[in-house]
Amino acid sequence: MSSVGATEEYAVGSAADIPEGGRLVVDVGSKTIGVFRVEGLLYAWENTCPHQGGPVCQGLIIPAVNEVLDEQRASAGFAFDEGDMRIVCPWHGFEFSIATGRHPASARFRLISVSVKEQDGTIYVSF
Ligand code: FES
Repeated sequence: MSSVGATEEYAVGSAADIPEGGRLVVDVGSKTIGVFRVEGLLYAWENTCPHQGGPVCQGLIIPAVNEVLDEQRASAGFAFDEGDMRIVCPWHGFEFSIATGRHPASARFRLISVSVKEQDGTIYVSF
């Protein structure tokens, strides 16, 4: 742990602990943090769902599901969007973008971001 002003930095694991598409949920200081790797980028969020406080970072990781429309704009079924990975809160099923922390339908619900970086094979979060 090192200190930069009021922000504390914590080593939470090695790069190998979070392979592509993976996650690591760790207790860090006074918080529980979920760290995710999507398309090579790391994202970290507090493990507290903005709905009712559930352990959102421990939910299913799934691609967004989008409705496909035909030329007449009638439904042609549904398709996964691997470019928009979501996490699904295990308590009531709210979905959040892993990349943005946003709920797809409501700006009221948004995950709390945590700064994350990878340096020399170690992953650090700071807050
Ligand atoms: S607490 Fe997460 S969906 Fe309700």
